[in-house]
Amino acid sequence: MRNNTYPSIRQDRSGLSVLSESFPTKNLGSEKEVMEAETSRLLNRWSLSGTTALVTGGSKGIGHAIVEELARFGSAVHTCSRHEAELQECVQKWRGCGLQVTGSVCDVSSPAEREKLMKEVDSIFGGKLNILVNNAAFGYRKPALEVTLEEYELTVRTNLDAGFHLSQLAYPLLKASGSGSIVFISSTASLLGIDTLSVYGATKGAINQLTRSLACEWAKDNIRANCVVPGLIKTPLSQWVSISHTVAPTLVGKEEFKAVCARSIPIGRVGEPEEVAALVTFLCLPTSSYINGQVINADGGVSINGNAR
Ligand SMILES: NC(=O)c1ccc[n+]([C@@H]2O[C@H](COP(=O)([O-])OP(=O)(O)OC[C@H]3O[C@@H](n4cnc5c(N)ncnc54)[C@H](OP(=O)(O)O)[C@@H]3O)[C@@H](O)[C@H]2O)c1
Repeated sequence: MRNNTYPSIRQDRSGLSVLSESFPTKNLGSEKEVMEAETSRLLNRWSLSGTTALVTGGSKGIGHAIVEELARFGSAVHTCSRHEAELQECVQKWRGCGLQVTGSVCDVSSPAEREKLMKEVDSIFGGKLNILVNNAAFGYRKPALEVTLEEYELTVRTNLDAGFHLSQLAYPLLKASGSGSIVFISSTASLLGIDTLSVYGATKGAINQLTRSLACEWAKDNIRANCVVPGLIKTPLSQWVSISHTVAPTLVGKEEFKAVCARSIPIGRVGEPEEVAALVTFLCLPTSSYINGQVINADGGVSINGNAR
């Protein structure tokens, strides 16, 4: 219900929550005015209104949920992926809901395409970027001895080189915004040894450390860097991942797999993309202004579970 005295959240045409713009201040006692100002300040700390964001890999899975959540919090978001038709379908759907989202095709494993992407972002957002989410990544699930040089190089180019190079390219835009936030998407494979995920896990471990270094180097420019570590999340990618190498990926969703999850993940289930997007969004909000250089898990507790599998 609309509150006429205090700032309120109202629903817009698409059913999205937005901050009410009318904050009546006349004829109010000074104590009430102070309260209103404080409430308004608090709500602004939990809003991304007026900010700009680039999220890589937004057409599916976790990236898709991140685009949606950032945009619902008021950010203008640009995203990319390799397949135009699927990407444009997403963008049209979001725009139809009143969200400010644009998209362009980019293979982040290519240095030239990364440069082209950042030029587009520069032009769309007028040289200012508040948020960069390095999300797009993939991996081969193979025993280390079977990984080819080509597979190794493509995994490193996509998961590590892209995040580093895009952060370099975004740096002037993040600095120009006056308040920049980089979020890397890592994996529990960066923390735990997992058979058949050696190269993927190594790229994610490097991402964790890159986060800490950039956080120290760029804080003076008002750019924070943090890293979110998802556990097993229900996405197209996780079709090839399973919580235990003893369980075939084809069992994801089946009873045997559920039993393994119940034993391994204290919360007892696979996560949803929105449960990762919520943490990413929190790290981009003004309210997290003192959180910098952190590697934070959204994994249902799997990485701290000392009980036998
Ligand atoms: N799902 C999990 O259980 C899980 C667990 C831990 C960590 N993660 C991490 O979470 C992130 C997202 O994973 P996800 O499960 O959401 O993956 P996903 O379902 O496979 O989606 C990946 C997204 O990235 C895009 N993408 C992939 N390669 C790309 C490239 N070279 N250039 C540009 N876009 C590319 C894909 O679109 P196109 O294919 O059309 O390019 C898609 O939009 C990754 O960093 C992953 O390592 C996931």
